[in-house]
Amino acid sequence: MTETLEASSLAIDDATADRLFRTARTVTTFAESEVTDEQLAAVYDLIKWGPTMMNTSPLRVLVVRTPEARQRLVANAPEGNQERIAKAPVTLVLASDPDFHERLDVLVPHIPGAREMFAGDAEARAEAARTSALLQAGYLIVGLRAAGLAAGPMHGNYDGIDAEFFAENGWKSFLVVNVSSADGADTTRPRAPRLNFDDVAQVV
Ligand SMILES: Cc1cc2nc3c(=O)[nH]c(=O)nc-3n(C[C@H](O)[C@H](O)[C@H](O)COP(=O)(O)O)c2cc1C
Repeated sequence: MTETLEASSLAIDDATADRLFRTARTVTTFAESEVTDEQLAAVYDLIKWGPTMMNTSPLRVLVVRTPEARQRLVANAPEGNQERIAKAPVTLVLASDPDFHERLDVLVPHIPGAREMFAGDAEARAEAARTSALLQAGYLIVGLRAAGLAAGPMHGNYDGIDAEFFAENGWKSFLVVNVSSADGADTTRPRAPRLNFDDVAQVV
């Protein structure tokens, strides 16, 4: 079912395409070596350039490192995901910030009044925040791979996570991502096929 596009159709070399997508896997077993805050900051510094609605940039990231914080996260994860979260070198909780409008004077200087436009509509803000933050999560997973790291996205119990970690800032979690240095990081799952362009696209 899975076909691979001719390399000549891409603007990146094969090794890069492999690293970012073709041979990159969702990590389920982890390397021992450390993933530093500097590496994570470098990844964010790259993926922050990915597009978001009106440049709202609503993704927020909680970096979970300490044993105490990790236990609080494990307690708010489905049972089947708990062991992997417990063993990962570092785990990110990805969230959207419904109060992203507070930053719009800086982020959207080209649209005067953007902040005020969103200020009165909490429901629209929550939806806009989630949509663009989900996109940014995709950029982040690819960015981790670009930095030579491996990502293991998985679900958490988000209401519990929000109550445990985000009661004060109001962030809304939507994904948990275990991160490992790729060296030694691996998966126990066989690679599953993907749909092809013809399966998913309609051309009109
Ligand atoms: C939004 C999302 C939620 C996921 N939730 C879980 C999960 O709760 N538990 C789990 O083991 N894997 C989870 N995964 C991992 C996927 O099953 C995995 O990325 C997919 O099967 C592709 O695997 P591959 O990259 O190794 O080909 C999730 C992935 C995404 C993107």
